[in-house]
Parts: sequence; C-alpha cells; structure tokens
Amino acid sequence: MKIGKLDLKHKLLVAPLADITDAAFRTIAKEFGAGLTFTQMVSAKGVVKNNFETLRLLVFSRTEKPIGVQLLGNDPFFLRGAVNELKNLQPDVIDFNCGCPVDKVTKHNMGASLLDDTKKLGDLIREMVAEAGDMPISVKLRLGKDARNINIIDNVKAAQDNGAAFVTVHARTKVDRYDEEPKWEWITKVKDSIQIPVVANGSIFTPNDAKNIIENYGADSVMVARGALGNPFIFDGFNKLMEFGTIPEYPTPEEIKDVAIKHINLLVQDYGEANGINKVKKHIIWYFRNLPALDQLIDKIFACKNRDELIELISFHYKNIKTNNYESDAKENFDKLFNSKVQFWLSEEDSIVK
Ligand SMILES: Cc1cc2nc3c(=O)[nH]c(=O)nc-3n(C[C@H](O)[C@H](O)[C@H](O)COP(=O)(O)O)c2cc1C
Repeated sequence: MKIGKLDLKHKLLVAPLADITDAAFRTIAKEFGAGLTFTQMVSAKGVVKNNFETLRLLVFSRTEKPIGVQLLGNDPFFLRGAVNELKNLQPDVIDFNCGCPVDKVTKHNMGASLLDDTKKLGDLIREMVAEAGDMPISVKLRLGKDARNINIIDNVKAAQDNGAAFVTVHARTKVDRYDEEPKWEWITKVKDSIQIPVVANGSIFTPNDAKNIIENYGADSVMVARGALGNPFIFDGFNKLMEFGTIPEYPTPEEIKDVAIKHINLLVQDYGEANGINKVKKHIIWYFRNLPALDQLIDKIFACKNRDELIELISFHYKNIKTNNYESDAKENFDKLFNSKVQFWLSEEDSIVK
C-alpha cells in the first residue's frame, strides 16, 4: 500500500491498542512481518501540555519504522499543537482516533462520538493536515453510531476531502462493541466512494480472514487487533499465504514459549523488573491461550514476583504441555471468553477496556 512516500512492504498492520502496543509488542510484530505498527491512542491535549505519561507512550526507536502514532482529541488547538510536536519525532503517519467507543472517551466528545458530526470531523482533519505538512494524516473510524445511523460514506468522504492519506474502517458501529460480526459489505461501499487507500479492521483472527477481506471486499490492507494478541505469527502466516499460497505449520509450543520469554525480556528492559513483569502477564496468557491447561497457568501467573519466577513458570508449563502431562484442553471455552473480553480472567470491575 502506498501512502505518499511510504510504501508498505506488507499488507497486514498492527492496530493501535491501549496498554498493549508498546515498543515490545511492536518490535515482535515487526519481526514477524507486520507492515506497519501503531502506538496506542494518546491525548492531543496531553502531548501539548507535555504530560510525561502521555509522551512516554509515544516513544519509539528508528528501528521500529515504519510506525504510526495515534491521537485522540476534539479541539483544533490541541490537535494542531500535538501534530506540530509529533512531527519532530518523525513517525510515518499520524492517525486520528474517531472510533473509540469507551465511555470515558465518548463522554468528552472524542473517539467514536465524532462520527455523529461529519462537518466537525472534516474540520478537525483539515486542521491536522494543515499542520502536518508532508506527514500523512490517517483516520480510524467505525461505521457510525448504530445500525440506523451508518454514515461512514459521508465521514470517509469528509476525511478524503480534507486531506487524509488513508482511512481505517472498523466495520462495526459504536454500539456494536464486539457483539456483532463486522459488516464487511461496507468496506466495498467505502472503496467505491473514495480514492484514498482503505484499511479494513474487525475480527481478523487468521491469515485467511485477512486475505478474504482484501480479495473479496476490495480492502487495500487489513489491520489486526485482538487477533495479534499472543499471536505475532499471524503476520508471517499472512505474508506467506499471500506470497506462496500456504500458511506455515506453526507455532509449535516451543516457538510460543520462546517468543513469550523474549516479550518478558523486552518489557523488563523497557520498564524495569516490577513494572515489566506486571505488563507482560496478560501477554503470556494470550500466547498460551490456544494450548492445553491455560487455567493452570492463569492460577499461578499472578503470584510470580520477578522475571526468573515467571520464566520458570513458563518453562514448567511448556514442559508439561510437551510431555502431555495436562489432561484438560479448554481451548474453545477460552476463545469465546477472549472474543468478548480480552482480559477474560478479570472481573467486570477490574477490566478497563472490554
Ligand atoms: C484492549 C483494546 C485496546 C484498544 N485500544 C485502541 C486504541 O488505543 N486506539 C484505537 O483506535 N483502537 C483501539 N482499540 C480498537 C482496536 O484497534 C480495533 O479497532 C478493534 O479491536 C477491532 O479489531 P478486532 O476485532 O480485530 O479486535 C482497542 C481494542 C482493544 C480490545
């Protein structure tokens, strides 16, 4: 996919994911062949006000390129200011979040609530594009507020007319959350109504899912979110499928264990041992979620207090899988739970993003 000067080598992209797509996650995804990765959403206001925690979420190294950063906001002053700041970091694209349905975002008229006001959406994009110079601005949207108010065609036209380089369409409405299947026919309608590239997003869990959306619905590229959690293998699988027509027979449990340990080491290196360990536990569960006896791993993992204990637990768990020491295989059960809430082991009160 060509976006101005940027020519992406691979068509499967990493979605922005809050609390997930940090440098460690992006590095691993890129090693497995992701075409482009994104930081999580960050507040435009936080960037302009030099909020340390906000700026920290935007840090990336040159080796990570191509990379996009994502802004959340609804005020032209802060969006322009943030774009101006971000230009110095030289990401390859700055994305504008117009899809987040979470209450704490929409109650401030940001994210998916912008979908209701096409004029405002267009005006904000125009401001960002004007400030960005030759830095591409992309826009990530849902289909509309609900099934009766699908206005994606108006919104993507506004994005194009105001200078967006490409759009990413999550083929669900704001109220759909994850309960509804993506309405892929809208990807074709969007493609027919604008000339800029269209990236499709929503419930892509296998290389074949991504290929299907490109070949049968006309998407230029596909963005994967939950399907990449604990599964960087999807990028290599997709690239091989597109190039050779077949998907490699992997990952083996050993490959999963090795990538999980690599993820631990990267996060500990970036955040220190205590924070790194806390951040990596969810990833470990996701890596092992399609292997037997996940419940036993979950039971033990939160008691691990340092890197060595965690690696020891993973090695022990892997050995038991390899020697068929476990009896239960609750895969299907966990898949369903995962699809409705990625941190499915948390109670309702503890989970932030469902
Ligand atoms: C835990 C979590 C965090 C997310 N964070 C963001 C975010 O920061 N920015 C954004 O645009 N979308 C965010 N999303 C939405 C995803 O990028 C994606 O659009 C959505 O999950 C649909 O793709 P999927 O069905 O492949 O998961 C998040 C989704 C999840 C599950």
